Amino acid sequence: MTRRKKIIAGNWKMNFNIQEASIFLHNLEKEVAVHRDVEVVLAPTMLALQPLSLQVNRRQFKLAAQNFHFQDYGAFTGEVSATQLRGLVEYGIVGHSERRHIFRETDKMIRSKVQAAIRNRIRPILCIGETAQQKSEGETADVIHDQLVGGLANVTSDELKDIVIAYEPVWAIGTGNNALPSDVKHAIKAIRSQIRHLYGAAAAEEIQVLYGGSVKPDSATAYLQVEGVDGLLVGGASLSVHDFAAIAAKAHGLSEDE
Ligand code: PGA
Repeated sequence: MTRRKKIIAGNWKMNFNIQEASIFLHNLEKEVAVHRDVEVVLAPTMLALQPLSLQVNRRQFKLAAQNFHFQDYGAFTGEVSATQLRGLVEYGIVGHSERRHIFRETDKMIRSKVQAAIRNRIRPILCIGETAQQKSEGETADVIHDQLVGGLANVTSDELKDIVIAYEPVWAIGTGNNALPSDVKHAIKAIRSQIRHLYGAAAAEEIQVLYGGSVKPDSATAYLQVEGVDGLLVGGASLSVHDFAAIAAKAHGLSEDE
């Protein structure tokens, strides 16, 4: 059976200026141990990617962009492309619910961003998840289906190996309203069964799937132990050195149980 590596990713969102980000990384370096079974990923503000890329020990942390444009270059005032990020980051978050809902990103844009990331050797972390209303109407599986099909159209089986899926129920993000591990289990099962349908059983077994939404040190282990969960996408708790390091530490040693 495949042993999928765990990923613990911290999305700092629009927090920390360059200097604060650098100090935070410096403090985190002292708290996070390097383990071969866990990849720890940091997604700082776009501005801090360049200085942090010089500071970071890439054996300890990988960098991620929180967002990027889907064209490689051109007349797109204020945007940053995956081409410009190439070499700076290993990962790129795509389709985060804040991008979908606040910035009105469509599945078509998200699909183009997935393509842009792959073209530029950046691993996309494709975020999917239902809203509170969709959940209450029993549409979770349909939303997962539509967002996966929408985001992955044009992705070949070979390219799928570079993609990470993050299941983030919108109602659990930044709300402290955490999902029940049993809800997460069902959603992850639906994701893998959709991947199986699209790309076959081996691909469904290999793809890394994360959970995200109000993860804290005391809830991390319960999510990491859900069958099929390969890691966590952490927002609020990634802004605390102590909390984020504690969450990363919890992922170590679990891969052996796969
Ligand atoms: P949260 O954010 O941990 O603050 O809920 C998660 C995310 O937005 O990825």
